[in-house]
Amino acid sequence: MGKVPALWSLCLLFNGFVWLFVVIGSEESWQKAAPERSEYYCPWQCLNFVQMWPGSFCVALATRFECVLPKNANNWTIHGLWPSDITACCHYWYLFPSDLTDLLPDLNWHWPSFINLSNFLFWEKEWYKHGTCGGCVETLNSPNKYFRAALDLRTKYNIDSAFQNAGIVPSCRYSYQLSTFQAALQPTLGDQYELQCATDIQERQILVQIKVSLSTNFSTGCIQSGSQDGSPYKPCQALWNIFYFPPNLENPRNPCP
Ligand SMILES: *[C@@H]1O[C@H](CO)[C@@H](O)[C@H](O)[C@H]1NC(C)=O
Ligand SMILES: *[C@@H]1O[C@H](CO)[C@@H](O)[C@H](O)[C@H]1NC(C)=O
Ligand SMILES: *[C@@H]1O[C@H](CO)[C@@H](O)[C@H](O)[C@H]1NC(C)=O
Repeated sequence: MGKVPALWSLCLLFNGFVWLFVVIGSEESWQKAAPERSEYYCPWQCLNFVQMWPGSFCVALATRFECVLPKNANNWTIHGLWPSDITACCHYWYLFPSDLTDLLPDLNWHWPSFINLSNFLFWEKEWYKHGTCGGCVETLNSPNKYFRAALDLRTKYNIDSAFQNAGIVPSCRYSYQLSTFQAALQPTLGDQYELQCATDIQERQILVQIKVSLSTNFSTGCIQSGSQDGSPYKPCQALWNIFYFPPNLENPRNPCP
């Protein structure tokens, strides 16, 4: 039980609190360094739960990657669960396949890699970059809890059914107004989320990813300063219609030529 919080404090130490021990290396200072429960500090307030659409993910994919869409690519999948404004919190907290044994079927189905990188390597990257920052919250403080939470969130914030209920279907020919997507998503995602788009070679604006901002208790509506996440996608613009392309396994980089 006590193992995981201990690991988290260890990470904090490695990642910047080492000076404490350099400056005051006595027994007493060790006791001082251990926080009271009420002082536990979490460096982030919001989580971004990010889902991506296989139909358009590869349109903006850099050519240095191969695009490998899974055969069942007809549903929104998980990209990641990202504590806001912080990454790579613990270099020595590794993900092992045995952490995920009970979750494998669901993870393979709902959290596949779309590039020539194994699913596990994708999860490992997400864990290293984002998952290791979740450990200050009890519901995320182990690899298994982190990946399980993301799977549960996919069920709770289900974009397939939100779109289905609103009659939004993938198409190469029809496009939608931003407000149509917003009306469809509002009942499920509230109003703190971002629709992210890419532009294809024909200059069409296409929906690729949806980031919903959650509080630490996983409810919607967490307000964050709109900082960039370094992805190749931009917030979708109301000025132009938005395409929602059907997945095209033969030509995933240009699904609607
Ligand atoms: C993925 O594909 C790219 C482009 O074909 C290639 O350069 C790279 O080595 C591949 N990576 C792996 C891990 O297979
Ligand atoms: C996948 O999408 C289809 C069509 O929108 C929907 O009927 C189905 O329930 C979805 N499956 C899951 C597991 O969400
Ligand atoms: C979740 O947390 C938010 C922000 O702290 C709070 O406003 C909300 O009431 C909480 N919701 C539940 C169901 O506890």
